[in-house]
Amino acid sequence: MSARKLRLGMVGGGRGAFIGAVHRMAARLDGCYDIVAGAFGANPAQSIKDGVALGVAPDRAYPDFRVMAAQEAQRDDRIDAVSIVTPNHTHFAIAHEFLAAGCHVICEKPMTTSLVDAAELLRLTRAAGRIFVVTHNYSGYPMVRAARELVGSGALGALRVVQVEYPQDWLSTRVEATGQKQASWRTDPALAGVAGSLGDLGTHAHHLLRFITRLEVEAVCADLSNMVAGRALDDNAHVMMRLSDGARGMLWASQICPGNDNALRIRVYGEKAGLEWAQEHPDQLRFTPLGEAPRILCRGGATASEAARHATRLPPGHPEGYIEAFAQVYADTAELIHAQIDKRAPNPLATVVPGVVDGLIGVGFLEACVASAAQNGRWVSVRIDCPDLLSLSR
Ligand code: NAI
Repeated sequence: MSARKLRLGMVGGGRGAFIGAVHRMAARLDGCYDIVAGAFGANPAQSIKDGVALGVAPDRAYPDFRVMAAQEAQRDDRIDAVSIVTPNHTHFAIAHEFLAAGCHVICEKPMTTSLVDAAELLRLTRAAGRIFVVTHNYSGYPMVRAARELVGSGALGALRVVQVEYPQDWLSTRVEATGQKQASWRTDPALAGVAGSLGDLGTHAHHLLRFITRLEVEAVCADLSNMVAGRALDDNAHVMMRLSDGARGMLWASQICPGNDNALRIRVYGEKAGLEWAQEHPDQLRFTPLGEAPRILCRGGATASEAARHATRLPPGHPEGYIEAFAQVYADTAELIHAQIDKRAPNPLATVVPGVVDGLIGVGFLEACVASAAQNGRWVSVRIDCPDLLSLSR
């Protein structure tokens, strides 16, 4: 990897925001980036104030993202990449602006609020020749990387069944009516997009399924419900899935299940073995070969896989977690950007980081689920009407 730190800008993530601060920790953990510019909020004066408070030079704390993209493009020391950590409805316009300005993009999920916009970002990314990463951060956990490798090795045999779920409880009451910022935009279709819990959590579960199994969702039968009165978007989603290679799956996303914080869990069953991983105990992967005693595979040590070691920073027994997994996405993105700068092939272990194609497939999944639910759970094909798709690896 080149010695130079990459120059990172951020859009969103000002005072009171949630995920922007996580991105800053993740970007800094491995020393790959300096955060040098930003438009940290929708209010111009506050955006500048927040940028200065976060240690950005006053001339690079911008009133809004359009000014930021235009002014950064004029600088010799312009940002290499931008992190987009704003509510969903803004992702497209911001990503569009920075791709046009020649930046690499690290974008929150869901990538856009429509498949049409997602396809446009894919085309723009190709035309600009930039790296585009979508922060499905759970793919950065060592034992998720190990699970993907294990499935890829054929240890489970042909895959038959996948169960994936992401329940939370924080929207069990009408929190949005209290003015709570994160709840307010997530329950508003104009800001969150067509899906609620499914867009917020189901997109992560969907990506995790695809990441570990390398299967695609071909058709869905979805039941989306708004359990809390007065809510316009789903707060509970059940989706049955027909997967590639004849496998079957079920996905459950919910924000109304008391006792659940971030209970993302996946179980994969093949003809020879099964595996199970839960994000609240991320260092352990349960591997169950048929007819043998279950094994608990762990992150570190001599028995860890190469993919797990690549995403590991500490010896086993020292817990790693959410920030480290998020940082892995940033570190792998840095490797892809440096490889492009240096005109060399990237480390193959870094190339698994979720890209614009994954973002597009995620949005296509959401739209198919919403269409299915609107037709009382009719089976709907997940069609990605984008001819460029198959020729793009990222
Ligand atoms: P938030 O409401 O806490 O923060 C959003 C920030 O964006 C605020 O600072 C707001 O002022 C700013 N903002 C809004 N419009 C803007 C604009 N036009 N220009 C500049 N800044 C603007 O929201 P939260 O929870 O941090 O979510 C942000 C995004 O991150 C969403 O897309 C969400 O789906 C995603 N997310 C991803 C997570 C993950 O695990 N990868 C976890 C939480 C959120």
